[in-house]
Amino acid sequence: MVTFATAATECGEDHCFHQIGKIQTERKAIMKMTKIAMLVLTIAVALFILIPSLSWAADDGATLFKAKCAACHGADGAGKPAAKIPSLVSDEAKKASDDELAKDITEKPKHAGVAKALAPDQVKMLVSYIRELQKK
Ligand code: HEC
Repeated sequence: MVTFATAATECGEDHCFHQIGKIQTERKAIMKMTKIAMLVLTIAVALFILIPSLSWAADDGATLFKAKCAACHGADGAGKPAAKIPSLVSDEAKKASDDELAKDITEKPKHAGVAKALAPDQVKMLVSYIRELQKK
């Protein structure tokens, strides 16, 4: 060890071993502290990354639809003809392509309130959830 070589030239051997021992103990303590600090930091960063993604994980199509779309289109997607809210399970909606549905979701002025907050993969989830509703 380098520490030993330099220390040995500067001190008597017994004393030197004692000092090296002390230095090593201090080093170990510092290493331990550093490791703990790193661990705490890692956990903090992990939580920071995980917590938002946990709520994202709950963001499946069904949850999203219930939270953002069901108020108008109904939990079953049947819509409210009396209020001019179209059914999402009509033959017409079944015939629409995924892209058309996605466009309807993001671009219809009636959706201005909900669509802005939707990420592209959330729109995809919604489209596949609408497909599920259409099968029922
Ligand atoms: C404020 C009420 C409201 C909310 C909330 C809403 N919609 Fe709509 N949606 C409408 C209305 C009204 C139309 C018809 C508008 C038009 O054709 O211009 C429509 C049309 C659609 C269409 C096209 C259907 C068709 O056959 O023309 C789709 C698909 C759709 N909505 C999906 C969604 C999804 C998915 C959500 C949730 C992110 C959602 N909507 C939230 C009111 C709403």
